[in-house]
Amino acid sequence: MSINIEKKKNIVQGNCSVKTRWYKDAIFYQIYPRSFQDSNNDGIGDIRGIIQRLDYIKELGITAVWLSPVYKTPNDDNGYDISDYRDINPEFGTLEDWKEMIKGLHERGIRLVMDLVVNHTSDEHNWFCESRSSKDNPYRDYYIWRKGSGNDGKKPPNNWTSRFTGSAWKYDSVTDEWYLHLFSEKQPDLNWANPKVRKEVIDICNYWFELGVDGFRCDVITYISKADGLPDGKGRFAVRGDEHFVLEPKIHQYLQEVSAKSWSNYDSMIVGEAIGVNAENAEIIIKEDLNELDTAITFALSEVDMFAGLIPKKLKLPKFKKIQSSWQCLPNDCWPTLYYENHDQPRSISRYGNADGIYKKELAKMLAISLLTLKGTPYIYQGQEIGMTNIRLEENEYMDIMSIRVFRAVRKYFPPLILVAKKIMRKRARDNARSPMQWSAESGAGFSNETPWMKINPNHAFVNVEMQLKNPSSVLNFYKKLIEFRNNDETIKYGEFKEYFPRNSSLYVFTRELKKQRYIVICNFKEKVVNLNAIDISARGAKLVLSNYPNSQETFTDGMTLRPYEAVIYHDYI
Ligand code: GLC
Ligand code: CA
Repeated sequence: MSINIEKKKNIVQGNCSVKTRWYKDAIFYQIYPRSFQDSNNDGIGDIRGIIQRLDYIKELGITAVWLSPVYKTPNDDNGYDISDYRDINPEFGTLEDWKEMIKGLHERGIRLVMDLVVNHTSDEHNWFCESRSSKDNPYRDYYIWRKGSGNDGKKPPNNWTSRFTGSAWKYDSVTDEWYLHLFSEKQPDLNWANPKVRKEVIDICNYWFELGVDGFRCDVITYISKADGLPDGKGRFAVRGDEHFVLEPKIHQYLQEVSAKSWSNYDSMIVGEAIGVNAENAEIIIKEDLNELDTAITFALSEVDMFAGLIPKKLKLPKFKKIQSSWQCLPNDCWPTLYYENHDQPRSISRYGNADGIYKKELAKMLAISLLTLKGTPYIYQGQEIGMTNIRLEENEYMDIMSIRVFRAVRKYFPPLILVAKKIMRKRARDNARSPMQWSAESGAGFSNETPWMKINPNHAFVNVEMQLKNPSSVLNFYKKLIEFRNNDETIKYGEFKEYFPRNSSLYVFTRELKKQRYIVICNFKEKVVNLNAIDISARGAKLVLSNYPNSQETFTDGMTLRPYEAVIYHDYI
């Protein structure tokens, strides 16, 4: 079947001249250490495992790594609950191993950005142990403590909910007060209104900068400031209270202080995980001369096919494109982040197309083109480069705290919905991205020789690095080619963006222009043949530079036919 797309309605246009900073040239690879490579056969990925794979990362063409947390942790939320910010989780190795890793990265010209989780600590952090011990402890105000509400004082201080289900407050009998935890009760929120807390964060950042890190990915950074008086929230189940702590205005002053006393003193990159930040309001937090965040990981895209961030729904391409394109059109001093996957999101090929169909390789490559030809800093999440898919798990095989909580809540409050919950979690669970990296077809997928901490996707038998390295037409080799192309091309990195046919529901069509160079990128997001009547792009004769089919049309013409998931890049001079 083929459909004809409508003629251009309008053109979405972006800007081109930008200030240079290293991260604008970088292509990031995100490592989730627990699932990357186990070096000592305890079933858990570790730092020496990463060291073994540095050449792999280098050969992929990667120039920066974002490493998910490797700090000391009781592992309630896989390291996003930190009990010592200056030391390494012994499951992952030692500070010496970490030093060897960063040296190995830097020797290969690869930067290292660490995760900075400072909205909350672990409840096993020494600050919290002190804080909870008495009301007049010097650390009391490091966290957010309140008396209970209601006539008998037995209710939580307000109605905010934890992002991991239930109330965001936990009663502590030691001092007969409650503490705030926007995530699990083992992740108490820090009190950023306390200048001593900000000083601690500054010291932690400077400690790692002195050890050589090149920046931080700041976890849930838009949550750090809470509205005075902690008023009740409206909001839905699981996000109640948002309006009182997402981008609460004091955040700007807090970030500027940390920046002035730490981040800005180094040639660093600060990327915020920025729930609530979208292209419309991005300027208030990522504009260059503000000295707050350098760029933001937006959630807008990940919500296009998820209702309330949880319930999968069909992807509507025009909405998806509108979000991507609106970031492309921001002023020059607001730098976008490009990503489809991370350790919290299901796999992109399972989400945006038919990952089980005969065109799955084309799909993986098309998504790669659609992401890596835009302006911004791209992130590739481990396994994305080989087309790893979601994993099918039974209820007792889910390892993530969020999945476990969801199943527990459904079993307790809505037992008839358990089958629905299972269906939803198969598509939505964060576990989908956390199954071990598929290095080879061996039983442990080359990840570990022992039982891994989490189930390995059985498709590692045919989706794995070893096989793909040998196959010139593999997804992995395609990523390499595309990364090399981007790394060496100023037009793709910095060129002006122009979108065509924004309302077309099958194709993403845009151009990138710089000086006399122009690229025309066309991505078919549908698993079917789609016709393009491209009269509006006066680029007849532009030459094919890259495509995900072996025999795509060599020259750009007005009328073109795109095969299922076909993606093409043409070049001409203007
Ligand atoms: C971020 C992390 C996620 C974690 C949460 C709480 O969203 O990416 O994995 O659970 O913050 O720290
Ligand atoms: Ca290990």
